[in-house]
Amino acid sequence: MFSTRTPAPGRNRLTTALDAHPRPVLDLTATNPTTAGLPVDPSPALALLADGRGGVYSPDPCGLLSAREAVSSYYAGRGVDAGPGRFVLTASSSEAYGWLFKLLAAPGDAVLVPAPSYPLLDALAALEGVELVRYRLPAEDRWAVHAGLVEEAADRVAASGRRVAAVVVVNPNNPTGTSISRAELGALSSLAARRGFAIVSDEVFLDYRLEDRAGDVRVAAAGAEGAGEALVFSLGGLSKAAALPQLKLGWILAGGPAPLLAEALERLAWIADSYLSVASPVQLALPGLLAWGDGAAGALRARLLSNHATLVEGLSALPEVTVAPLSAGWSAVVRLPAVEPEEGLALRLLEEEDMLVHPGYFFDFPREAYVVLSLLPEKATFREGIRRLARGLRAWR
Ligand SMILES: Cc1ncc(COP(=O)(O)O)c(C=O)c1O
Repeated sequence: MFSTRTPAPGRNRLTTALDAHPRPVLDLTATNPTTAGLPVDPSPALALLADGRGGVYSPDPCGLLSAREAVSSYYAGRGVDAGPGRFVLTASSSEAYGWLFKLLAAPGDAVLVPAPSYPLLDALAALEGVELVRYRLPAEDRWAVHAGLVEEAADRVAASGRRVAAVVVVNPNNPTGTSISRAELGALSSLAARRGFAIVSDEVFLDYRLEDRAGDVRVAAAGAEGAGEALVFSLGGLSKAAALPQLKLGWILAGGPAPLLAEALERLAWIADSYLSVASPVQLALPGLLAWGDGAAGALRARLLSNHATLVEGLSALPEVTVAPLSAGWSAVVRLPAVEPEEGLALRLLEEEDMLVHPGYFFDFPREAYVVLSLLPEKATFREGIRRLARGLRAWR
């Protein structure tokens, strides 16, 4: 009856245990910025949605020019010179992935994705009938992208007779916070051009880069029109850039060799025209929303730094536990000795400490044992969560 694009209904062991948990749970997986108690007032941003021009429907498939100009200025403020013609607006970066998979991949084609990384990619690929093949991010190099490991994954796909449609880089990566270096992006671009696939660079955490390494790339599609060997699509959106996920506006910035780029943009416009999914009021409000978002992102960065310091301090009495440095993003990665399966640990923390953490396998860490924590919760909540986590981990001794 149903297509294989959606999974059979069901819950995993952790969500089942959570549903049945009898007491309130302290949630260290919460990444919703609108309920994180940030010291910012959203009403000026929301008031912008009442612009009277929103009463008229006059769509442009790629997004209203005024809105694309606003995104173009947002990038200019970050040192990237890209005119409004290189942007396509979407309802979210998740939708942007869907449109790019439609643009690039036929059903059954492979898309190379990093491991560990963002778990929603599985669902987004399944919905498009696309198969994900993982390339390894080495823990020993703080999970950075290596073009050689991408090539190894591309070779595996070729050996199985399938076609690689694209490689995804999550830049900076969620949850490890690492970015691709200019040298590796150059090698990846040559590989992609040689093998005929495109690069999709998920840059939703662009404004949450706290400690770049020398040579790290911020916007992979930044090269001016005609530059670069491969087609590159950089993704961003209000959900992270302005901490406004409820307004549903994301974007694709396209770059690459001129004739290919022009064709990609025309085809993307055709996909966008089939949906016209971005509401007019949010597009009209975009210049003001992005300006308001600067303040929200600043408040969020302060929260991330403060909670990360709390985490490091709170686990400092456990020398067998390592907290990864906070390079970028909204999450913290904690490495634990593999003395207890990750899932068992998460279930035990729920049962004994009334707290929720993400086990590393959720993000495809290749080996046990990691836990991933959101750095967004209110400071007092987070501090109490880390106190409970430390107590739960001490139970090993
Ligand atoms: C790496 C990454 N990409 C994309 C998204 C989805 O963003 P959006 O709300 O724009 O769909 C998230 C959300 O957490 C994310 O972590």
